[in-house]
Amino acid sequence: MENIESSFIDLPNPRKDIEDLQPYSAPLEGRRNLLRLDFNENTIGPSPLVIKSLREISRDEISAYPEYSGLKEKVVESLIKKNSNVNINSSEVGIFNGVDAAINAIFHAYGNFDDLMLTTLPTFGYYTPCAQMRGMQIKAIPYEGEGFQYPFDSICEFLTQNNPKILLICNPNNPTGTRLSPERIIEISKLSSKTLVVVDELYEAFTGDSVLPFLNFQTTPNLVVLRSLSKTAGLASLRIGFAIGHSKVINIVNRVTGPYDVNSFAVIAAFAALNDQSYIDSYVQEVLEARNWIKDQFEKHHVKHHIDGGNYFLLWPKSKPQLVEQKLKSSGILIRNMDKKKNLKGSIRVSIGTIDQMKRFWSAFRIVDEV
Ligand SMILES: Cc1ncc(COP(=O)(O)O)c(C=O)c1O
Repeated sequence: MENIESSFIDLPNPRKDIEDLQPYSAPLEGRRNLLRLDFNENTIGPSPLVIKSLREISRDEISAYPEYSGLKEKVVESLIKKNSNVNINSSEVGIFNGVDAAINAIFHAYGNFDDLMLTTLPTFGYYTPCAQMRGMQIKAIPYEGEGFQYPFDSICEFLTQNNPKILLICNPNNPTGTRLSPERIIEISKLSSKTLVVVDELYEAFTGDSVLPFLNFQTTPNLVVLRSLSKTAGLASLRIGFAIGHSKVINIVNRVTGPYDVNSFAVIAAFAALNDQSYIDSYVQEVLEARNWIKDQFEKHHVKHHIDGGNYFLLWPKSKPQLVEQKLKSSGILIRNMDKKKNLKGSIRVSIGTIDQMKRFWSAFRIVDEV
């Protein structure tokens, strides 16, 4: 077969920013029959109501373009049900093909060439390629100390001096679990009205630290909150997520997406998932119990670890992370090797599932790392 790399092909030139881009490495193939503790997904699947609603999908719902009516209202209703201090309306909600698509759309809508994106390090890996796609400059301030504290003072100073176009706050942060209080986030957003402060709350359910009950987009119009049904609700493969912000911001961000980017399966499943909040709440509760159980084991056996917000933790095994990753995989368990990530040398990230799943991980890990 012809070697495409080495042979000459006369093709149009792509944009320079795209040619130079390091693609984001998404989950590998062949994960479905394994215990997936590598990408922080729900480890037991969605509510039975979601499965039922998908099984009952009609021919029309497949052959006609998707309809979204009522979904934004449903999101608002479920957020208010969870916390009656939330004060938002449906014009402040945007529906996206996963939060990944919302992030990309925000950069597309707001990031000019050479604009600045401010974030922290290490954090979720998709912010950087989205900024690079727009030709933006990136400033990533490291978390502080062994406990990965949020670099609050440095962020505030940089923000005041440079007014970056976008500030990305992952709260709790993936992969360090670092938590930032809603009051501090609002304080940050008041420092520069020219900065769009994007608060990625993908793992908020595990801490309850959402900024939403503390704000009003009329007085804090430069803040956008991201929520997804991938993790707690277990809809990762269907791809649906939400951006919540001032109606003008949501309107602008929605201009760069296609009219039917979110498919009907995702919409139907989202209604069913939002109608069964108790299923999500009980899964979160189970994960939090499993978190306490595994934390106890680490403490008892003096395993170097870092565990904070979110359904994941960091571990520093005695053996090389790559070896641990391979050996766990042979026992049917996937984890994420973080050895090459800045400031995380020698570590692995493990998602938290149920207590039984954590017991399975712990037995395998003890053998692999001779604990
Ligand atoms: C912090 C963070 N934000 C966003 C995403 C993407 O979420 P979604 O599945 O809704 O695209 C992830 C997925 O791992 C994540 O960890």
